[in-house]
Amino acid sequence: MLELGVNIDHVATIRQARKTYEPDPVTAAAMAELGGADCITIHLREDRRHIIDRDVHVLSDTVNIKLNLEMSIAPDIVEIACDTKPNQVTLVPEKREEVTTEGGLDVVGNRESIQPVIQRLHDEGISVALFLDPEQQQIDAASQLKANAVELHTGQYALTSGDARAACLTELTAAGKQIVNAGMTLHAGHGLNYQNVIPVAQIQDMVELNIGHSIIARAVFVGLTQAVREMKELLRIAGSAS
Ligand code: PXP
Repeated sequence: MLELGVNIDHVATIRQARKTYEPDPVTAAAMAELGGADCITIHLREDRRHIIDRDVHVLSDTVNIKLNLEMSIAPDIVEIACDTKPNQVTLVPEKREEVTTEGGLDVVGNRESIQPVIQRLHDEGISVALFLDPEQQQIDAASQLKANAVELHTGQYALTSGDARAACLTELTAAGKQIVNAGMTLHAGHGLNYQNVIPVAQIQDMVELNIGHSIIARAVFVGLTQAVREMKELLRIAGSAS
């Protein structure tokens, strides 16, 4: 069944707003797991605006499901990944001024700097996914660099509606086919919510969806375990209807 990665960065964002100890993303991870999450996703940003080094260390010891660390290729962050050994690293581009990750990684333009990072993570036994826009050349480059998986950026799909959204879905589906044909695992994420997730969940050979904002937003009102349970149910419905 399709795996749900729950991104708990926003829990840490609330904590960092007061630079205190609560709410603790470690508690959030346990509650997400109780709700049926298959994976806990965290992004250690260079400015440490939400997840901090301590979270990565504690979560790598306490998460019993898959731990997916989103990160840039900054050398100090790569060191933390090698030290804590999450099950999976998803390499993302990072700009300090952005509110959230804005686009996919430019693997074509940054081959020389990305390749040794993938190699280093592989040497540590860490699976590597690359967060990419649905573009043929980027996917080719990911395959040449021996990425294990590609997470397709669904931000554009999430922002559009009607024919434009249908066109995005067609593009994501074609990119998904290319990824799987190249022997990589298909993931997707960004901007997915309870209203728009099903068509993406039904893309052929989709393995993992990473969802943060919409789940944490719902959790404010219904609790995190329930919010995760409701998203898992949508993925189940998507699977049985496809
Ligand atoms: N996947 C990646 C690579 C991301 O950077 C993010 C945002 O942190 C997500 C998934 C989750 O996006 P959202 O919070 O919009 O669900």
